[in-house]
Amino acid sequence: MVSGKRILLIVAGGIAAYKTLDLIRRLRERGAAVTPVMTQAAERFVTPLSVSALAGEAVHRDLFDLTREAEMGHIQLSRSADLVVVAPATANLMAKMAGGLADDLASTLLLATDTPVLLAPAMNVRMWTHPATRRNLGVLQSDGIRVVGPNEGDMACGEYGPGRMAEVPEILSAIEAALGAGPLAGRRIVVTSGPTHEPIDPVRYIANRSSGAQGTALARALATLGAEVVFVTGPAAVPPPQGVEIVRVETAREMLAAVEAALPADAAVCAAAVADWHVANAADQKMKKDGSGRAPVLDFAENPDILARIARRAEDRPRLVVGFAAETHDVVAHAEAKRARKGCDWIVANDVSPATGIMGGAENEVTLITGSGAEAWPRLSKDEVAQRLARRIAEALA
Ligand code: C5P
Repeated sequence: MVSGKRILLIVAGGIAAYKTLDLIRRLRERGAAVTPVMTQAAERFVTPLSVSALAGEAVHRDLFDLTREAEMGHIQLSRSADLVVVAPATANLMAKMAGGLADDLASTLLLATDTPVLLAPAMNVRMWTHPATRRNLGVLQSDGIRVVGPNEGDMACGEYGPGRMAEVPEILSAIEAALGAGPLAGRRIVVTSGPTHEPIDPVRYIANRSSGAQGTALARALATLGAEVVFVTGPAAVPPPQGVEIVRVETAREMLAAVEAALPADAAVCAAAVADWHVANAADQKMKKDGSGRAPVLDFAENPDILARIARRAEDRPRLVVGFAAETHDVVAHAEAKRARKGCDWIVANDVSPATGIMGGAENEVTLITGSGAEAWPRLSKDEVAQRLARRIAEALA
């Protein structure tokens, strides 16, 4: 795991820096050595004294610290670590990294290093969604930099949305994965997510209200534990996760083909809300009113059941096949029946009756149905459901 590894931890200036104190403790508990570096702005949020007390090492703060420069030098400081972690990574520091600027110790270390880098961004939601930050993120990712989070939620500034720094357990998992030590390292997992679009004609389609939020969170959580994730997604409302292979599809039939092409895999998790039918007489050209006042008649044909097809594959059935069941009543009974009918190993069942507010919401309350019973989980954020499920999948594949 992380024991015996040296982490160069760069703390930039954001309110989330308070969580970094706990991250340091947890890293030390696990036997990692932490070399802390703080930006000037970080010192406005947490004190160098707290950081160095927890890290058990002095904080590096100054690019022109001559004694240290003589002893070790910032280049060596940046290279003697097994991993560089930036938590919180601010919009400003990410912009400097993307542009290759080096005007303080933190940015100089990041430019001088050949060690893998993991960022835990934290910023206001508008800063995160700003085209400049999106552009910088793209540059950093194509430079091979890993990113964990941010999560969606309430922000210290009073707004709501993506921008909250990932929680400490998620950052720890991402650190393990970056060190090639995650519990799912070497495992390949296919995840389906989002709705499907079934065309009526070239401009119209039948869809459903799935946002893809739970599937996306799950793919992210599995990747964070080190899995190689193939993320097969219909046209979803939420952006796809980072660090996974993304295969975009529209129809259920395309989704099945993409999943089959992604096999063999150790596990398959079908979180997509797949349309049960497609329009068998979809038109090649845009359908027009013919003036008769008669409405067109659509013929429907059943779509393939991707989950059942994967669960019943003879040669290359994944070791673990997981489905979801959204029900409005008798959740457990229906989900048990579904598990048997589809031939999958687990079903993650939830109650989506309108009163629960789960459909399209940020939270989920699920029951995990395995061969050995039904476990009701408490109401959790979709990210937390994903992290729990990812850990269970890791245990099952261990
Ligand atoms: O039968 P139902 O749609 O309720 O089953 C839900 C589960 O089956 C989900 O895991 C969903 O992703 C999967 N499914 C599928 N292909 C379909 C229909 C459902 O993979 N055509």
